[in-house]
Amino acid sequence: MRLDREHAHALDAADPLRAWRDRFVVPHSDDGRELVYLCGHSLGAQPTLATDYVEEIMRDWRNLGVEGHFAARRPWLTYAERLAPALARLIGAGPQEVAVMNTLTVNLHLLLVSFYRPAGERTALLIERRAFPSDRYAAESQVRLHGLDPARDLIELAPRDGEICLRTDDVVAAIERDGPRIATVLLPGVQYLTGQALDIGTITAAGRRAGCTVGWDLAHAIGNVPLRLHDAGVDFAAWCHYKYLNGGPGAVGGAFVHERHANRGDLPRLAGWWGHDQATRFEMGPDFRPSPGASGWQISTPPVLAIAPLAASLEHFDTVGLTALRKKSVALTGYLEALVRARLGETVTILTPEDPAARGAALSLRLDVDRNRARAAFDGLRARGIVPDWREPGVIRAAPVPFYNSFDDAWTCVDALQSLLG
Ligand SMILES: Cc1ncc(COP(=O)(O)O)c(C=O)c1O
Repeated sequence: MRLDREHAHALDAADPLRAWRDRFVVPHSDDGRELVYLCGHSLGAQPTLATDYVEEIMRDWRNLGVEGHFAARRPWLTYAERLAPALARLIGAGPQEVAVMNTLTVNLHLLLVSFYRPAGERTALLIERRAFPSDRYAAESQVRLHGLDPARDLIELAPRDGEICLRTDDVVAAIERDGPRIATVLLPGVQYLTGQALDIGTITAAGRRAGCTVGWDLAHAIGNVPLRLHDAGVDFAAWCHYKYLNGGPGAVGGAFVHERHANRGDLPRLAGWWGHDQATRFEMGPDFRPSPGASGWQISTPPVLAIAPLAASLEHFDTVGLTALRKKSVALTGYLEALVRARLGETVTILTPEDPAARGAALSLRLDVDRNRARAAFDGLRARGIVPDWREPGVIRAAPVPFYNSFDDAWTCVDALQSLLG
């Protein structure tokens, strides 16, 4: 592989998606220089169209007041549900299986209320040891909510000693071993710290064979890797829209509930009027009758201002399609990886799996130098206008995002890191 910058430029010139960068506002430094923004795994860049979408709602609100629910250019009443088809395409689901609502941890709680139903011997909730803290807190509190003891009923899967990522076979073996006592499996589609993409199909099948319900946190997976939740038989999933979906800070989140649960009026849930059957929602009756499908888990009026940027971004996803984005993503991340191995091999360990099928856009780079030097190198990147992020202990995460990152971005990052660690 050629390591020179001209090669990066040649790869950019040959990139069929390169023009899409202009549809995003890549953040700038104070002096107006465009940053090398490699943080789409944390907060995606702003689609230029997002401002129009937000302003449209502000204008409709000014002009129409309450009538905007029905008469806005994009009526607020159905604003959230109109995004379901585009999201369904990204996660391999039917539109009825998707709801745009709340935020990620809230959705995990709502779905666990319905799908984590400890009974008899089957009381445990299986998560991974290095679960994102919010997922862990949610899981632990759900176990306690049922009067159970997390020391017994929160099972935590860890990689093998000396290994960084989970092996699919080990996950399956753990589910088979503890199956009779596991009520629910809750795992990440892409692990936040290592960037590992788990094998959702195989693990879900194992969970269901063992009689568990199976749910996924897709925060780092949606819009990043191809997903087929319906065919995999996943029971439920939740995600946020502010990472690869570019929905903006605090954007409203999403939820998936498999079609086989669409009409399960028997499932306990925390109800609110927005989850009531749409045909009779405004009759204001006292009895809750859930809307079929994932929308039956909604609670409140959708916050359209926190959804508008997502609507803009989804237009782009629909135009380009995940297949083309993923193709570029695999090439871009592969290029970043090759540069890191060739130029930083002595001082950096890539925690993310090598197999493109087992990762998304992001690479997690552990700097094998003392922590102060590692942190100084990270700060040096930021000072040079390069924006990955830092996760303890000593891990730099960098995601070249196919919509708006270039091969030159990857080259610039590795070149700077090499000189900072040199
Ligand atoms: C994997 C994962 N789970 C949960 C969360 C928490 O999301 P929220 O603050 O939207 O509830 C995040 C946030 O980045 C995340 O990355």
